[in-house]
Amino acid sequence: MTENLIIFNARVVTPIGFTARRGAEMSELIILDNATVEVTDGIITYVGANRGENRDGYYQHYWHYNARGKCLLPGFVDSHTHFVFGGERAEEFSWRLKGESYMSIMERGGGIVSTVKATRACNFIQLRSKAEGFLKQMSAMGVTTVEGKSGYGLDRETELLQLRVMRSLNNDEHKRVDVVSTFLGAHAVPEEYSGRTDDYVDYLIREIIPVVAQNNLAEFCDVFCEQGVFSIEQSRRLLLAAKEMGFALKLHADEIVPLGGAGLAAELSAVSADHLLHASDADIRAMADKGVVATLLPLTAFALKEPYARGREMIDAGCAVALATDLNPGSCFSGSIPLTFALACIYMKLSIEEAITALTLNGAAALNRADSIGSIEIGKKGDFVLLNTDNYHFLPYYIGMNCVNTTIKEGVIYPVL
Ligand code: NIG
Ligand code: FE
Repeated sequence: MTENLIIFNARVVTPIGFTARRGAEMSELIILDNATVEVTDGIITYVGANRGENRDGYYQHYWHYNARGKCLLPGFVDSHTHFVFGGERAEEFSWRLKGESYMSIMERGGGIVSTVKATRACNFIQLRSKAEGFLKQMSAMGVTTVEGKSGYGLDRETELLQLRVMRSLNNDEHKRVDVVSTFLGAHAVPEEYSGRTDDYVDYLIREIIPVVAQNNLAEFCDVFCEQGVFSIEQSRRLLLAAKEMGFALKLHADEIVPLGGAGLAAELSAVSADHLLHASDADIRAMADKGVVATLLPLTAFALKEPYARGREMIDAGCAVALATDLNPGSCFSGSIPLTFALACIYMKLSIEEAITALTLNGAAALNRADSIGSIEIGKKGDFVLLNTDNYHFLPYYIGMNCVNTTIKEGVIYPVL
């Protein structure tokens, strides 16, 4: 659904560009006061000073929104989530509170594999309605595009089911959030392949990735490249095969130990490498050189009580940094955009301007969409967030609280507060 819309009297706050902003560019926001943004059939057709007049009745075909006292930003892009799954893992969370680690729970058959059991027990409608609930909450925090991963099926039927759920949500005429799909069959080794990781990688390459490609069910292929999960060699083999079949690449890299996943992302020219808590200096430089977006997920570090990724140093090294939530039932059961802003600014030492770029234009770049979303510029989608303040500093300052007043998707207004 798209609309014609005039937003006037706004304070527009946006990064500018049709590619990722790297290094010092990340802090360069444009701020326009008393501005008008015109959206025609869902696409931005004017950004600039208020024009005041009714252009000879032309605007009678437009909705009007007086944004006095509000900031208008590009819609937020949450470029890393796992929002389609069955069940929950509240017990695991309580075990972690008592000192057990994420990986030790996974090693004794909990973790991702326990969500796999719950997801395999769900049908399409059950998975879809639960996922749709998350999308509503995301929209209320200003998200207009989200990436979602499979990876809780680990067999052909359930991996495809998760991807079909995401396609169905994205095809919904009344959707508030665009959904970009990623195939993450290499999220864990399923019980059927226990101790036979290489055979499982072969199975993914031969039996599942070609079907995902033929049915256009995902744009990206991702892998949990981690000690005890998929090694660098296994990840490389899988990702090269996926690239061959037309997928753009992502990696869960250097999340728990420094394995070199960020370096592999640079070697393969992946679109993004995500997590990066333990990425080495050399791999950070390699990502900057190759233009791999460094997607940082501060909520996960917070939830796992791990050290935060070195966001400040990555930007200073010339990387394009994106921020995302990593919403999933295990390591990080949160899709909180407000808390992501706060943690990124307080603990990863991003400036507020850099954090805004990271959650808009660079999030879009992490999804190969910087040409169509992520900034308020003519030709891009009319996807916006209106804050209930004209001071964008509230985004991290109002810690963990929502200052989104209205989310606008392709010109359609969805009031929040
Ligand atoms: O990004 N690390 C791998 N994948 C997710 C966690 C998934 C889960 O625990 O269910 C992550 O942290
Ligand atoms: Fe993840």
